[in-house]
Amino acid sequence: MLSHPNHSPLRTTILAIESSCDDTSASICCDGKILSNIIANQTVHEKYGGVVPELASRAHLQNIVPVVDTALEVAGCSLSSVDAIAFTQAPGLIGSLLVGTQFAKSLALSLDKPLIAVHHMQAHVLANLIADEKPSFPFLCLTVSGGHTQIVLCESATKMKVIGETIDDAAGEAFDKSAKLLGLPYPGGPLIDKYAATGNPKRFRFPEPQIPGLNFSFSGLKTSILYFLKNAGTSNVFREEFTASEEERNKFIADNLADICASIQDRIISILINKLKKAAAENNITQVCIAGGVSANSGLRKALRETGEKMGWKTFIPAFEYCTDNAAMIAITGYFKFLENDFAELSVSPSARAIW
Ligand code: KG4
Ligand code: ZN
Repeated sequence: MLSHPNHSPLRTTILAIESSCDDTSASICCDGKILSNIIANQTVHEKYGGVVPELASRAHLQNIVPVVDTALEVAGCSLSSVDAIAFTQAPGLIGSLLVGTQFAKSLALSLDKPLIAVHHMQAHVLANLIADEKPSFPFLCLTVSGGHTQIVLCESATKMKVIGETIDDAAGEAFDKSAKLLGLPYPGGPLIDKYAATGNPKRFRFPEPQIPGLNFSFSGLKTSILYFLKNAGTSNVFREEFTASEEERNKFIADNLADICASIQDRIISILINKLKKAAAENNITQVCIAGGVSANSGLRKALRETGEKMGWKTFIPAFEYCTDNAAMIAITGYFKFLENDFAELSVSPSARAIW
């Protein structure tokens, strides 16, 4: 390993590991600055239409050593200059989390360095503190991923509260399930984004759920898209009589793919932005961020910027590589926990579910 000229005893270097779902990632962060962020994606799941937990765990086992080695090398850092090991403790797939947790614990034990347990959803929020231009506290963060949709009120780097969340599907699931209905491969979110770019978002009108407060619901949208497609777009989206043949349906999808994708994306975005506006008004907040895999969506990024201009908000969006799952967000969260001496015992275990 190379030794880094910037490493001195006064600097804090965190090695972070993320393995909550199907990406194996490692990152080095020095005094809150990200020096490397290596991600190994798993393509093995594509043919199954979703992540297969057992295959994900096996791939993490194969990837974790080379990914950590590369993160150290890119950062120009040796294991001896690492001050603490941060890892994703929850939530996620338990087999996937176990691989990262055991690896982090073994490293911490062998190096005699402290261990920092990180909450994956809090880390998504703090991805907004990686860039030089950071939101000031308190800020709101709309965290939208494959498993979660939350509005988080962030009072400090370590004090956050969920003030709204989905009561059924997550926004990422709404994208992925809609894409599946259109015959697109998993994960379909990025593909809907791509086709939507050339479509008319107002061509088809999908209903907006009426959920009180700051919570979200996306399962009704999926059902309305299902009926709409089964009727090949010829009737009211809620009609349950399936009139179109499979051939007619496939032709309708092929002929109108860009407009259908743009209309689905437009509705998902309006559901998200409307609740975000309500949350900002109720909490008197003008610093607003987004985070999580769906924050890579170009329509959502544009809508946040435009809404921000209209509402007088200052808006923040992480760089693409920090939107989907990555260890840099675990590293930055680990850094803030390090500053507060918030360390985990070596007996710590991962958890598929997580309480804030
Ligand atoms: O945060 P993430 O990488 O993993 C979870 O913790 O879930 O989010 C993955 C989700 C998937 O549902 C994926 O389809 C969605 O983020 N996603 C997108 C885009 N890029 C990723 N959805 C819409 N547009 C995108 N460009
Ligand atoms: Zn995530």
